[in-house]
Amino acid sequence: MVIGLLKCTEESLVGLIPNVVSKLIKEGHNVMFEPGAGDDSDYSDQEYLNVGASSHERSDVIAKSDILVTVSGLGAEDLSLIGETTYVIGKFNSNIELVEKIKDNRIKAFSLDLLPRSTIAQSMDVLSSLASLSGYKSIISAAENFAGYFPMMTTSAGTIPPARVLILGAGVAGLQAIATAKRLGAVVEAFDVRSSVKEEVQSLGAKFIEVEGSQEDASAGGYAVKQSEEYIQKQKELIHATATKADVIVTTAAIPGRKAPLLIENRTVASMKNGSVIVDLAAATGGNCALTQNDQIVEAEGVTIIGDSRLYNKMGKQASLVYSNNVFSFLKFVFKEGLENIPHDHEIVSKTLLTSIQQEAVSA
Ligand code: NAI
Repeated sequence: MVIGLLKCTEESLVGLIPNVVSKLIKEGHNVMFEPGAGDDSDYSDQEYLNVGASSHERSDVIAKSDILVTVSGLGAEDLSLIGETTYVIGKFNSNIELVEKIKDNRIKAFSLDLLPRSTIAQSMDVLSSLASLSGYKSIISAAENFAGYFPMMTTSAGTIPPARVLILGAGVAGLQAIATAKRLGAVVEAFDVRSSVKEEVQSLGAKFIEVEGSQEDASAGGYAVKQSEEYIQKQKELIHATATKADVIVTTAAIPGRKAPLLIENRTVASMKNGSVIVDLAAATGGNCALTQNDQIVEAEGVTIIGDSRLYNKMGKQASLVYSNNVFSFLKFVFKEGLENIPHDHEIVSKTLLTSIQQEAVSA
């Protein structure tokens, strides 16, 4: 197969790193890449050439590939050039407009952010890979913006207490944030609507803040579900009380397909200590903090609020490595029998392919 690698114009990631390209070439595939594909994530053209890939203009890569790999974002010209037999792999689902255009153009695009959270899909799970990096970076960014130590310091000038960190949402990103904050010596508290994460939170050395009466749904595939009004009110009061004492808050709470729940209200920010920091990883879907501005750092009531759902972009090299490994696993699974024999009935294909075969049959 001819596999084409496009430069991602939206994020500091590349869809395939040279090491993974090398594996694909050893398996007998041809790999073409757009010049500068890996520039933003510190992989040079020379590294791709060294492993046997060939460099071509973007339009040629699009026209000649059986499978195109990117990360996110495709321009109007790209969409017009992609042939009807070409498969595209990326993560597009957060860009509603692009998803519509992909469907309108009947492009066979797989969006890896739609993969089921199943055991078999774990090695392809880009959301988990990138959330873990964002969770780590959220604490590093908070520490950079917080004008104090994270660990307790006993010095001849007196004892400085450890920073108090509150994590809201203990999924993949939240758990990584807890682990990172603990390693830096902070006192960490965490909250999640899913009480099933209590043990994981505690095993990382953090205190789990409990609000009784949460709704959990085993059929939601491990995700959170919408909570009752009474629960939301109790939760707000407890979070408000805990946030007031925190130096750093990292929020990661999300419910798939919905606006992010509002967990930090204006009054909570106003009651926080001057110099505190909030990192809102749910910024792209409305934010967990009322004062969050997506992709911006704002100061409000003496608190620094960092709104960034794609902090993994600040670790482009590592992020590209895990993303590439996920793409490699996906390619091996979906195309193991070649381009003609894709397992359309498997949920890994049916959930990620944006233009379904049923749709094609209808519009044909
Ligand atoms: P996510 O990004 O959708 O949500 C992050 C966290 O926010 C979740 O833990 C969720 O419970 C929490 N949350 C939602 N609403 C909240 C609220 N109002 N207040 C406080 N917290 C709230 O989820 P993520 O991190 O992508 O995955 C969630 C879970 O899915 C994982 O912890 C795991 O159990 C499961 N999962 C399973 C995988 C597998 O089996 N392959 C792979 C990845 C995740």
